[in-house]
Amino acid sequence: MKIGNIDLGERPVLLAPMEDVTDIGFRLLCRRLGAAMVYSEFVAADALVRMVNKSLKKLEVCDEERPVAIQIYGKEPGPMADAARIVVEQAHPDVLDLNFGCPVRKIATKGAGAGLLQTPDKLLAITRAVVDAVGDQVPVTVKTRLGWDHEHKIIVELAEQLQDCGISALTIHGRTRSQLYADQADWTLIGQVKQNPRMRIPIIGNGDITSAERAVEAFERYGVDAVMVGRATFGRPWIFREIAEALHSAPSSTASSPSSGSVSGGLSAGSSSLDWKLDILKEQVLTSVARTNELSGIRHIRRHLAATPLFKGIPDFRQTRIKMLQADTVAELFEVMEYTRKLLHQQQ
Ligand SMILES: Cc1cc2nc3c(=O)[nH]c(=O)nc-3n(C[C@H](O)[C@H](O)[C@H](O)COP(=O)(O)O)c2cc1C
Repeated sequence: MKIGNIDLGERPVLLAPMEDVTDIGFRLLCRRLGAAMVYSEFVAADALVRMVNKSLKKLEVCDEERPVAIQIYGKEPGPMADAARIVVEQAHPDVLDLNFGCPVRKIATKGAGAGLLQTPDKLLAITRAVVDAVGDQVPVTVKTRLGWDHEHKIIVELAEQLQDCGISALTIHGRTRSQLYADQADWTLIGQVKQNPRMRIPIIGNGDITSAERAVEAFERYGVDAVMVGRATFGRPWIFREIAEALHSAPSSTASSPSSGSVSGGLSAGSSSLDWKLDILKEQVLTSVARTNELSGIRHIRRHLAATPLFKGIPDFRQTRIKMLQADTVAELFEVMEYTRKLLHQQQ
């Protein structure tokens, strides 16, 4: 599957853009574990145009994580086009993605993100402006939802219109804005967009890919060109490897690429062992601390430690879990994690 000239291989699995999650450290880790492409968290176009430092910092990418997409959001064609130029100039991303799917009130009700699904003409005007501004330098893609609400699921028609604007791929999250994250993602309309004979650009399906089985189903039943995984990566970045193993009886080249970090890569017999997974989580802690400071780094990674399925089923784990999530220093945290390693081994 290709986005512009970027070849993502067969049945690629992508890391979803997630605010405060998909920083450079997490993106690198997910690439190493088999994500075919990774996305930055969304960056506000207005802030980029005003050269706000915090937003400019979000444009940092490194070559080892490529292909990488930078995502921007905004509500007016002019600033979005200007921001796109800044992104291309500063980050040279492999893909520039436009966010028309964010449901968060302070964004969607102000006419940005998924709010633009209420004003499709404006959404298309923004897309055209960005394609005109940078489309000759980078593939421009869009990520959106099925529509604003149940009565306005406009995605089938919108997909054609977006394609006519010159985008190179479309990601669809199978929910409306009104649903936020409730209910199960509905993949039927994603499948319908894909089956539309007028559609030529790749369709990336997103929503509730929580297991290798679901990823396989997304490809086989709905025919999408790629799937994108978000929340299921919390505390489980190895899901990319699990999916790759299910999709290809032989592991894909990306999944088996050698490790560049401290945790051994490759698909050796022990690569999916509990020890290996615990080491990955410890590595995430260290990367996060190195990027910020000890306390912020640990706080940043707690969401992963809280969500990881690795500790599920350990008897009487509650107190240890609380200790793990309250640890304020790396030494303290690693002591609890090593104790947990013993518990995991006892369980085996
Ligand atoms: C914490 C969090 C932050 C998110 N930030 C973004 C974002 O910056 N841009 C975006 O397009 N989607 C964002 N999303 C939505 C995800 O990319 C994805 O569409 C959604 O979580 C559904 O996929 P999933 O079921 O695999 O998680 C975010 C989701 C979460 C949970």
